[in-house]
Amino acid sequence: MEVLKVHGGKTLSGTIEIGGAKNSAVALVPAALLSDRVKITNVPDISDIDALEIILNYLGAKFNKNDDEIIIESNGMENKPITLEYSKMLRASSYFMGALLGKFKHAEMYFPGGCSIGERPIDLHLSAFEKLGATVICEGDKYIIDADKLVGADINLRFASVGATINILLASVLAEGKTTIRNAALEPEVGNVIDLLNDMGAKITGKDTRTLEIEGVKELKGGNSVVIPDRIEAGTYIIAGVMNGKNLKINNIIPEHIASLLEKITEMGADIKVYDNYVIVNKVPNLKPIDITTEVYPGFPTDLQQPITPLLTSAGGTSTVTELIYENRFQNVPYLVEMGADIEINDRTITVKGPIKLQGKEVITTDLRAGAALIVAALAAEGETNIKEVKHVLRGYAGLIKKLTKVGAEISLEDV
Ligand code: UD1
Repeated sequence: MEVLKVHGGKTLSGTIEIGGAKNSAVALVPAALLSDRVKITNVPDISDIDALEIILNYLGAKFNKNDDEIIIESNGMENKPITLEYSKMLRASSYFMGALLGKFKHAEMYFPGGCSIGERPIDLHLSAFEKLGATVICEGDKYIIDADKLVGADINLRFASVGATINILLASVLAEGKTTIRNAALEPEVGNVIDLLNDMGAKITGKDTRTLEIEGVKELKGGNSVVIPDRIEAGTYIIAGVMNGKNLKINNIIPEHIASLLEKITEMGADIKVYDNYVIVNKVPNLKPIDITTEVYPGFPTDLQQPITPLLTSAGGTSTVTELIYENRFQNVPYLVEMGADIEINDRTITVKGPIKLQGKEVITTDLRAGAALIVAALAAEGETNIKEVKHVLRGYAGLIKKLTKVGAEISLEDV
């Protein structure tokens, strides 16, 4: 069994380079299937991308990876049902629904996998496909989505879902006529996908607004994409820097994408200097407590709610975190309590009292960002923390051990 061992309390100093955004890359790869050849650069080296490579190979598309560059060639691919095993490999497998429906007017797959942080329904995706003219047959966990033709429609999302927005884009770019997505998600990863689709010849307007208009085109040509920096990876290391940094530089970021985090840690009294594409963080004593509520972009991201919780334990006073996006996203809390944190869960809100000094313990990762939270906690804790089930974290943080070791952390993956 693999265990991540972290000897806490080390000062983090030097530079951490942020890679391409996981949540963009996992959408850009299925999007690439809509044309013959797409080149994507700044792709993170994470296991979610390996899973997509397996699925593309299964579908007969070519997936050539060279360092952080992927070339996807999909002429010759076959529209096969995506198996249960492949569908469950990651949440973003759901993007094959939109991509295959858009390309072949037919998609078959199972309910997607991903972190178990709540119910995570896909009703908004499916009802949008129906609006575009598809029929959706649901056999247990399996979905068969079929259309004679797809015709543009006016789609008003009940919730500004990232996944549904991207899936509708994928299904509608080749539809007949105009599709409008109202209450579309504003997350930067959506814009990254729009840029690729437009580079492939799609006609999408309204990027970075709540209303997207897609004028269907007959076919798409090849295109190129550069994955935007991962704002959640950046945020996670910034938080670690606030707890333990000494001139820690987090490089290759878009500060605007993490404005809500920067605002909150500034409110805490953190020492952070923001430049064009990097920040420099220093640990300071006497941090102030804050209240956080997760919201859709540009609000505080749910994906940073767990990683910031260990930081709140070091603030003097009572902080709260209210999670409004997912109903089961506090699974890191019992382990933080195990490490000495004073945290109470009350429905969708946690109350964190500090300051306390976290202690190294044996803990288990339940999902990707819960794991990130435990690593942030372990880096600051006194003594050694052993983190089990760390595969969840390695799904989303490229080169985590290498990056942290380079700035002075004592962290290693060991077989026990
Ligand atoms: C994406 C991100 C995830 C992030 C989330 C919110 C990927 C691969 N994952 O997930 O890291 O936490 O955005 O920023 O990009 N909902 C419905 N019906 C639907 C779809 C969503 O009720 O059909 C609800 C979900 O249950 C959840 C909320 O909407 O409560 C947000 O979901 P959504 O924005 O779709 O998240 P994902 O795209 O799955």
